[in-house]
Amino acid sequence: MNEIQKNKLNKIVVFGNILPEGLKKLYENYEVVNYLENTIESEEEFLKKVSDAVAIITWFTHKINKSIIEKLNNVRVIANYAVGYDNIDIKAATSAGIVVLNTPDILTNATAEIAVLLTFACAKRAKEAILSVLTGNLDDVSPSFMLGKDIIGKTVGVIGAGRIGKRYAIMMQALGCNVIYYNRSKKEELEKIDIKYAELEDLLKTSDIVSLHLPLNEQSKNLLDMHKLSMMKDDAILVNTARAAIIDEKALINLLEKGKFFSVGLDVYNNEPYPDPKLLEFPNVIILPHIGSATYETRLKMAEFLSETLIIALNGRLTELKNLVNKEILGQ
Ligand code: GLV
Repeated sequence: MNEIQKNKLNKIVVFGNILPEGLKKLYENYEVVNYLENTIESEEEFLKKVSDAVAIITWFTHKINKSIIEKLNNVRVIANYAVGYDNIDIKAATSAGIVVLNTPDILTNATAEIAVLLTFACAKRAKEAILSVLTGNLDDVSPSFMLGKDIIGKTVGVIGAGRIGKRYAIMMQALGCNVIYYNRSKKEELEKIDIKYAELEDLLKTSDIVSLHLPLNEQSKNLLDMHKLSMMKDDAILVNTARAAIIDEKALINLLEKGKFFSVGLDVYNNEPYPDPKLLEFPNVIILPHIGSATYETRLKMAEFLSETLIIALNGRLTELKNLVNKEILGQ
């Protein structure tokens, strides 16, 4: 039996409608079974589907918790079709000897672009303007109708200076903003181009626009709680393209009800993809259904990269991987 025939006996289960052309290498070399569901409704059903799989591909909507991981008998690799991996219990995966992969780098531009889009949409009151056209509510159009804010000259505070945060910071600087950032550690490459570090509270108090670019973990969960949100300027713009749980959404709604914030742009929110109806009522809250990386080019590259690295992982060449999430597994 040659290598390819042998691999065909190995099953990979893919969850979600990932572009099949991006998974070509997997389809050619393995038995691939695709289930379209984006969530795990029943642990039992999920485990049945993956019981004889050596690897699974998941999305950020599939919650792979400890209880599931402990029952994954054959799975050796979980490949997450996302850069974020807070949907997977990484510690449990490492204990179970399961390799976790993600898709860093590839989606940096697409996600930074969505943050820029939300920034502009918020500043220019795009939702209200589009709604006025769609509903034919145009009698008020006058020299003082729908006044937004200039972007140029504004202070932009970037929270989290990983790949996406840095890209967004550079884009906003190129658009004429004074950009500052908060991060666990200072970033030399930003400092060099006059994008300076600020303590979180200073950043919140002085920024006209605040954009979040942190991974979700124990430290970042609820980072923007009532206290921190209240520190922001009353007419600030807040953009979140990272993860919903970084903001206390109840506190955010409470403050919006009191008239705080010029506008809020969210690509992530609780209970995705169905936002709290209260959020929808605010004319100055702009919501996108978590489409940060959703361009054809990016999603295709993500699928190709994940396929290639999944094969490397299944072949045991872990040290070659640039997207190994649980590096601790190398020492086991
Ligand atoms: C999307 O949110 C991702 O983490 O890739």
